[in-house]
Amino acid sequence: MKKLLKKGDLKTGQTGQTLLSYDTGSLKAERILLLACGNKKEFNSNTFAKAVGSATKQLHESNTIDATFVLPESTDDNNAYDLVRSLVNAAENSLYRFDECKSEASTNKRPLKKITLLMTDGKLKSRFEKAVAHGKAIASGQSLAKDLANLPGNICTPTYLAEQAHDIKRGIRKMKVSVLEEKDMKKLGMGALLSVSRGSRQPAKLIIMEYKGASAKTKPVVLVGKGLTFDAGGISIKPSANMDEMKYDMCGGASVLGTLQACAELDLPINVVGIVPSSENLPDGDANKPGDIVTSMSGQTIEVLNTDAEGRLILCDALTYCDKYDPAVVIDIATLTGACIIALGSQASGLMSNNDALADDLTQAGQESNDRVWRLPIWDDYQQQLDSNFADMANIGGRAAGSITAACFLSRFTKKYQWAHLDIAGSAWISGGKDKGATGRPVSLLMQYLLKRAKQL
Ligand code: BES
Ligand code: MN
Ligand code: ZN
Repeated sequence: MKKLLKKGDLKTGQTGQTLLSYDTGSLKAERILLLACGNKKEFNSNTFAKAVGSATKQLHESNTIDATFVLPESTDDNNAYDLVRSLVNAAENSLYRFDECKSEASTNKRPLKKITLLMTDGKLKSRFEKAVAHGKAIASGQSLAKDLANLPGNICTPTYLAEQAHDIKRGIRKMKVSVLEEKDMKKLGMGALLSVSRGSRQPAKLIIMEYKGASAKTKPVVLVGKGLTFDAGGISIKPSANMDEMKYDMCGGASVLGTLQACAELDLPINVVGIVPSSENLPDGDANKPGDIVTSMSGQTIEVLNTDAEGRLILCDALTYCDKYDPAVVIDIATLTGACIIALGSQASGLMSNNDALADDLTQAGQESNDRVWRLPIWDDYQQQLDSNFADMANIGGRAAGSITAACFLSRFTKKYQWAHLDIAGSAWISGGKDKGATGRPVSLLMQYLLKRAKQL
């Protein structure tokens, strides 16, 4: 192998480059794939994940069915855990495909079926096994989130999402799933949420998943995910270019389903509640009109100046509903504002919070899981942009600081608990082009946060 490397064909500094050789020397293997992992100084679990992803893809597309990975030397236990989890996660993710809606799924006659990890240090065995389990569960959660998100709006309706939640529950004793129907929401006074679904023929659903891994006394982490299965903007209709991508407006909700599934798969000793308000936003004779005033479950009234700012209308009632769980923290996840894409691109999700410790924990979890967030302020100074002449607040705050004023709107419904808001408008899917598709973010960030809370790391 040293000889091979000396020839210089493999640029070892270029992460993900590979060199396939049939000269396996004394090894029993049929082939050897050398994998460039980048410069030693820059090497970490993220660059490693990138390299592994490219290798597994190549193996899958070649004739390899069974591969053994030799791990790079690691310095300590934590490092070994990180590398193994990244490897498993990256390998699973790199083989993700979405062909549910193709009449003939592309078949691979000799797919990569089995990956073995070679351990040189036996005493790390239990650590390795944990890392493999975590990596797999997170990858399945991401993959569930991607599948739901990639499905078109005519298939993935609020009703479909609710059915999926029931499917996840099946066979899991520690999970409870319930769905509030429009009549239930009406009784609760969810006038903001219901004003959005009034313009659609698909009934709204409020999906509730309760994972109980700890004693009933332990306060739950509540995750709230925006579940707009299609957002045409309503009467304030969106331009038609790329409007198909508004099927992704339920990515927050999908990430909540994926995260709850992963928590259950790992049997985490914590309580987590997932809440997904789900609806369509369409123009219709009965839809919200600009200027309409609606009353939220909290009693606060809202002037709907733009019907395309619908996410906050469904979220605000779901956030009020959270009170009943006496949450330890509430994290909402939403494809909330185009402005967030302008501010942060797809590299980081926006983070806004009323609690510094929670914001710091999420920032760190994002860093560690390579699913990063960047905090934006929600100072009181911004609140006046939501002033309305006719109601307690308007649902838009003008062009300036659009992501922040959206979060300021939500903050008026989250005063009773520690709360963070993740704006995933830029990170939840890859837009346009041949790579168009959901990313599964921020399932790995949320899982990293929950694994730490559950003291599993
Ligand atoms: N779902 C959109 C936000 C969005 C747009 C996410 C593009 C990803 C890509 C949201 O409902 C919306 O339409 N927001 C408006 C708010 C505005 C009217 C204040 C926006 O961002 O334009
Ligand atoms: Mn909208
Ligand atoms: Zn939307």
